[in-house]
Amino acid sequence: MYQKLLQKALAGHRLVRSEYRELLALEKPAELAALFQAAYQLKLRTVGNRVRLRGLIEVANYCAKNCCYCGIRRDNHAIRRYQLSAAEILEAAVLADRFGYGSVVLQAGEREDDEWVGFITEVVRRIKADSSGRLGITLSLGEQREAVYRQWFEAGAHRYLLRIESSVPELYRRIHPPDHDYRRRLECLRSLRRVGYQVGTGTMSDLPGQTLDDLASDIAFFRELDVDMIGMGPYIPHPDTPLGAAHPDFDAEKKLTLALKMIAVTRLALLDVNIAATTALQTLAADGRERGLLAGANVIMPNVGEVAHRKDYLLYTNKPGLDENAAVSRGKLEASLHAIGEEIAYEDWGDSPHFAARRRAERESVPS
Ligand code: 5AD
Ligand code: SF4
Repeated sequence: MYQKLLQKALAGHRLVRSEYRELLALEKPAELAALFQAAYQLKLRTVGNRVRLRGLIEVANYCAKNCCYCGIRRDNHAIRRYQLSAAEILEAAVLADRFGYGSVVLQAGEREDDEWVGFITEVVRRIKADSSGRLGITLSLGEQREAVYRQWFEAGAHRYLLRIESSVPELYRRIHPPDHDYRRRLECLRSLRRVGYQVGTGTMSDLPGQTLDDLASDIAFFRELDVDMIGMGPYIPHPDTPLGAAHPDFDAEKKLTLALKMIAVTRLALLDVNIAATTALQTLAADGRERGLLAGANVIMPNVGEVAHRKDYLLYTNKPGLDENAAVSRGKLEASLHAIGEEIAYEDWGDSPHFAARRRAERESVPS
C-alpha cells in the first residue's frame, strides 16, 4: 500500500527502486495529494520552506550538439543565434546581486573551443570580482574536458548542472544522434565531482517510449551518483526537432502530473538535496512552479537576462515569461511564493544541506 511507503519514508527509512516505481504509478487525486503532501513534509524537514533563487542568465544559444528533442540543436536553422557580451552578462549578474538572489546560473548550448572556454573563464572571474565574491556561480555548459571544468572551478564557479537526460542507456540512445555518447556524459559527471563542484543532474519525464521503470531507474541513478542537486522537467515537443515532429501531441495536465510525481518521489528518495521547480513546469500551467514547490522542490531560477534574447532560447515551445523583465517577474514570483506559504532565502548561495553533509563525511574519513 502506498500509505505504508509514505510512512516509511517519513519515518526516515530509505525507499528502494521498486517502491519508487509504485509511487510513480499513483493516479487517483487523493493518492497524488497524499504523495505530494508527504514529499512537502519531508522537504520542510530536510531543506525547510525557504526557496532558493538563482538568477538565470542564458548566455548563448549556439550549440555544437544535435539532441533530437532540443530547439537550439545545431541543425535547427529556424532560430537566430546569439551570444551575450561579457558586459551584458555582468549587467545581468549585477541585477541578480541587487535583487539579493545570492547566486547566478550561466547556461548555454555546448561549445568546447578555446575561445569559448576562455570567454567563460573571464566572465566567471569578473562576476566574482565585481560582486566581491558575494555571488555564487553555477554553470550549465554541457560536456567539457576535466581540465576545462577545473579551469572554470578555479575561476570561481562552484556548482555545475549536467543532466543525464535519461539514465537508461537504451532510451538515451534513442533521443540522441549516434555521435552523442552516454558514457562520456557519465564520465563528465564523475570529472565534475573529482574537481570539487557541487554536482547537479536531472532527466526529462514523459519522453516518447519512456516507462515508469525507466523513471524509477532515473531516481535510483541520482542516488547512486549521490548528487547534490536535481533539475528535472517534463519533455515538451518542439516542432522543429526530429523528436518533436514525430510526436507532436501531448496532454499538458498529464505531463505536469508526471513531472510533479518525479519531484515528489525524488524528494522522498534523496531527502536533503536541492530540487529545482523548472520553467518547463510553468510552460504546462501558470502555477506549475508553485505546484513543484508544493510537491517537494526548493529552488527556482528566475531569468535575469535581457528580454531581447529570450525568444531565441527556446528549447521547447510556449516558454513563459518571454517579454517580462526581471523586475516584473521578481515581483510576481515573490507574491505567488508568499501565497503558498514559502519564504525566499535572500543573500545566500543556497547550497544543499546534502553537500555540507557530504563534505563533513569526506573530512572525517581523511586520516589525520
Ligand atoms: N523539452 C523539455 N526540456 C528540454 N530540454 C531540451 N529540450 C527540451 C524539450 N524539448 C532540456 C534538457 C537540457 C536542458 C537545457 O533543457 O534537459 O538539459
Ligand atoms: Fe545543445 Fe543542450 Fe540542446 Fe543538446 S539539450 S542541443 S546539448 S543545448
